[in-house]
Amino acid sequence: MEDVEIGRIHPYRPCILPAYREKGFEVALIKSSIEHLRKCGAKKVRFSIKGSINEVMPYVDLYRNLGFYIWREAQIMKRNLDDIPDLKPLIPLKLLTSRQIGVDAFVNFFIECFKDSKDRDASKIASDVQKVKLFIRRLLEREGEHHDPDCWMAAFAEEKFVGFAIATCREGYGLVAEVGVVPQFRRLGVGTFLTLKALQRLKERGAKEAFLGVDLQNMEAVLLYEKLGFKRNTSGFLYELEMTL
Ligand SMILES: CC(C)(COP(=O)(O)OP(=O)(O)OC[C@H]1O[C@@H](n2cnc3c(N)ncnc32)[C@H](O)[C@@H]1OP(=O)(O)O)[C@@H](O)C(=O)NCCC(=O)NCCS
Repeated sequence: MEDVEIGRIHPYRPCILPAYREKGFEVALIKSSIEHLRKCGAKKVRFSIKGSINEVMPYVDLYRNLGFYIWREAQIMKRNLDDIPDLKPLIPLKLLTSRQIGVDAFVNFFIECFKDSKDRDASKIASDVQKVKLFIRRLLEREGEHHDPDCWMAAFAEEKFVGFAIATCREGYGLVAEVGVVPQFRRLGVGTFLTLKALQRLKERGAKEAFLGVDLQNMEAVLLYEKLGFKRNTSGFLYELEMTL
C-alpha cells in the first residue's frame, strides 16, 4: 500500500501459470488482494491499466464486474513535427525558461494553472503544495539525463505570469508533459503559443514526433491539441479504476 487510504494492485493482470489460466484463479487472486487491502485499512483501491483498446478492455470489464468504476480515462495523442504552424497569441508574451527562473518557480505555476483543471488527477495534485513539489521532483527524475532547462518554459504578459509548458526530449521523439494557462488569460491563444513553442523546442532537438497524455474529460485540452494537429493514438489508452471499500 502506498498510503494509508488508497491501496493498489500490482500488476493488475495477476501472474498465473499457463496451465491454471481461465480457471477462476485470476478473479480469486484479485478478490483476495482486495480483502488484504481492506484488512490493512485501505478505504479505496485504485490502479491504472495501460495499452491498446483490445488489451485494456477485457481487464476494465473484469474489474468493473468486481465493483470497480472508471475514475479517469486518458489517452495518448501524437503528432509528427514536420511542420509546426506559426500561430500568434492575442496578447504580447515574453518567454522565460527554467534556465532564467529556476525549476522551483514551476511549483507555483502548476498550482495557479491546474487547480481548476478538468484533469482530475492534476487538479488534485494542485490542491496540495507538497504534492506539487513531489510531482515536479518526480518529473525531473523521470527526465533524468534528458532534462533540458530551456524546455521548461513560462509565458509572461507585462511581467505577469500567464502560463507554462514543459517538454522532454527522448531518442527521436518528444513528450509535451504539461501545458497550463492561468484562468484569467485563457482563450487568448496562450495555450496554443506554449504548445507550439514546446513542439519547436522538441523539433530543434531532433525529435520527429511528439506525444502527450490527456484526460478525456478535459475537453478544453483535447480541443486545443486536436486543433494543433494531434491525433488520438488508439494503442495508447489509460484507465484508472477505483473501488470504495
Ligand atoms: C487547456 C488550456 C491549456 C488551454 O489554454 P488556452 O490558452 O485557453 O488555449 P487557447 O486560447 O490557445 O485555445 C486554443 C483552442 O483550444 C480550444 N479550447 C480551449 N479552451 C476551450 C474551451 N474552454 N472550450 C472550448 N474550446 C476550447 C479551442 O479550440 C481554442 O481555439 P479557439 O479559441 O480559436 O476556439 C487551459 O484551459 C488550461 O490551462 N487548463 C487547465 C490546465 C490543463 O488542464 N492543462 C492541460 C493538461 S493536458
